Amino acid sequence: MKTRRQILEDCIVRGSLLAGVATMSQTQLLAFWQQGEAQAGKPTSTEVLGPFFRKGAPNNTNMRVSGDPGFPLRVSGQVSNTKGQKVQGVKIDIWQADHVGLYDVQGYRYRTKLDVESASEYVLETILPGHYDDRPAQHIHYMITAPGHKTLITQAYFATDPFFEGDPAKNYKKRGMVSSPELVRNVNLFEGPGQPRATIQFDICLEKA
Ligand SMILES: [Fe+2]
Repeated sequence: MKTRRQILEDCIVRGSLLAGVATMSQTQLLAFWQQGEAQAGKPTSTEVLGPFFRKGAPNNTNMRVSGDPGFPLRVSGQVSNTKGQKVQGVKIDIWQADHVGLYDVQGYRYRTKLDVESASEYVLETILPGHYDDRPAQHIHYMITAPGHKTLITQAYFATDPFFEGDPAKNYKKRGMVSSPELVRNVNLFEGPGQPRATIQFDICLEKA
């Protein structure tokens, strides 16, 4: 099995923008995308809160500090509800492990509470989270609140993660890890000046309270 680093390096060498494509057949990829499309209008699947949530994170759209080890990642998305409406007054707690799979349990490194503007879109600069033994797929935790809507606790995963062995549509069930394949997002990889960067889009669909 290739390591995450090998997969990323292969993609950079090939100049592939869709890192997930490197290990997925066209049929698999199409099926995976169609699953995502079918999800439109359905509430985002829930996941466990986990033991590492901390209240009180600052509103910080750039969790990556210059010189941070770890692969730069931009996460963006829209927040809507099952009626297809943009949602106002959204707040998103996001927390994740650092590049070696450790959470900051004393302070607020790789933790933020975003105040989403009226356009219902968010953008966050961070790094790809590392793996840790208890939950061996890379993930980012989310808790989303908005007036008139149910609180949503979920997680974003990465299609390029070696955990999914190139087939997240099938392997998301491995070890009961992921509640739904739509939480596993395609990873776009860009070779920017200086340093390559990964991006994922993680849209959120809330249920009315
Ligand atoms: Fe976690």
